[in-house]
Amino acid sequence: MTKDQPREYPNVFQISPEAAEHLYQFMWLFWEKRAGQDMDDGEVAELLRQHEIAMAEPPVAPIRDTVLSILQQVHANGVEFSILELGAANGSIVHVIDKEVGLDGVRYVGIEPWGPFIEDFRARFPGQTMIQANIDQAIDLSSDDFGTDSFCVFLASQVFCMVEPDRVRRYIKHLSGFCNCLIIQDTIINSQSQLSPNKVAIFPFKPWDMQFYFANPFEVLLNEFGYRIVSNWEMPPKQGKHGWSIFIATK
Ligand SMILES: C[S@@+](CC[C@H](N)C(=O)[O-])C[C@H]1O[C@@H](n2cnc3c(N)ncnc32)[C@H](O)[C@@H]1O
Repeated sequence: MTKDQPREYPNVFQISPEAAEHLYQFMWLFWEKRAGQDMDDGEVAELLRQHEIAMAEPPVAPIRDTVLSILQQVHANGVEFSILELGAANGSIVHVIDKEVGLDGVRYVGIEPWGPFIEDFRARFPGQTMIQANIDQAIDLSSDDFGTDSFCVFLASQVFCMVEPDRVRRYIKHLSGFCNCLIIQDTIINSQSQLSPNKVAIFPFKPWDMQFYFANPFEVLLNEFGYRIVSNWEMPPKQGKHGWSIFIATK
């Protein structure tokens, strides 16, 4: 797909940056405050269970295979493997690492806004770190908060689509100071900014739940800060949702 041959995505809408800010605040209420969701204890437990196993699911094999193979290479050189995750939920990738190779020589730092995910993670992995923060607060985190001044790998799986592009841009700029290898699962729509650069592209994800997500121009944002996309596994649309991709970007 090139800029000259944009794909047709009939359900994509283009909105102004001001409207995008309102949508971001709406998404923030949904994810951080779980506004209006009124989950009982059983529903929260089920949500925790689903997120715990998310990284063991077949479509995300490229994520876990990449993480495990970098971990093995790093460990083969006698170095600590470190991974930072934004929108970490309850740390599903840590469950995978623990099950596959154990957590010796592994430093994981998750960043997550929703309290129950954090409590669940901390109870299960007291030796690892989960910081309560949304992306705005995450931009202010530093090596003092992380306990290290660089990470081998950064992971954001289905997170940036909940964030309007200006914040994503600022976060990638922040990341570029301490991580050279990014693994991002997100929508492929508009990844090369095929749609109007002055508007923000959004698409319905679960419109019955009032979830509308952002189609961010990843390739453009990553290139701006010196990253190149070196792998791009496009996943088939599922459950009526647009095509998703697993991007690996390195400097
Ligand atoms: C669809 S879940 C994906 C969870 C996990 N990364 C995975 O792939 O299974 C989205 C995650 O992003 C978090 N999230 C949503 N908005 C966020 C924001 N503005 N800043 C940081 N995290 C956010 C949510 O709380 C949730 O944990």
